[in-house]
Amino acid sequence: MKVLIINGSPKIENSNSEVLVNKLNNYINADIIQINRKNYKQDFSDIINNYDTLIFAFPLYVDGIPSHLLESLTNLTIENKNVYAIVNCGFPEGNHAKQGLDIIRNYCIHNNLNYKGGLGIGGCGGLNGMSKNRLLKFINVNINKYIKDLSNSILANEEFNNVLTKINIPNYIYRHIGNMSWKKDLDKLTHK
Ligand SMILES: Cc1cc2nc3c(=O)[nH]c(=O)nc-3n(C[C@H](O)[C@H](O)[C@H](O)COP(=O)(O)O)c2cc1C
Repeated sequence: MKVLIINGSPKIENSNSEVLVNKLNNYINADIIQINRKNYKQDFSDIINNYDTLIFAFPLYVDGIPSHLLESLTNLTIENKNVYAIVNCGFPEGNHAKQGLDIIRNYCIHNNLNYKGGLGIGGCGGLNGMSKNRLLKFINVNINKYIKDLSNSILANEEFNNVLTKINIPNYIYRHIGNMSWKKDLDKLTHK
């Protein structure tokens, strides 16, 4: 079974999706491509058709999937693949990410692909930065558990019942960290 992970964040590097992709790939050792804001006009069908199983990892944008990824998916000519998804979102609650999983499921229904389930994770707005902080390792507890479960399903080629979870941190602390980081960015922009 050949497995491909598709990082669908528009960002070229340091995306939150990338953190999740790397965590998953520690278990499944798959090939990885990015469909990002620079390369999304490229037709990825030939590359993707070399694989049996696809995992789309992307952020939730406006309760949907980012437009560059949507355009790329719309133009693909692929069929008969197993498809899993990991949707990360900025709101603290993971249930927002269900919209993204549903869009991938519908895409599969309409394109003769086999949707096998996915993971929606809330509170990922600062995941990339927070993951680099050793003191914040505890935020990963839920993510690590469900990523491992997902990897087991992928390796066994089994269905994975959608899981909606969040980073392991109370919402008020997450909001506080978010506010601090936005203020820092604003200060940089205004040269304070
Ligand atoms: C244009 C835009 C729209 C977004 N819309 C949502 C949204 O509807 N719901 C949500 O929870 N997060 C939303 N977010 C936050 C992203 O999902 C979040 O920052 C995510 O972690 C980014 O992932 P990435 O680094 O992999 O691109 C939005 C972010 C941007 C830039």
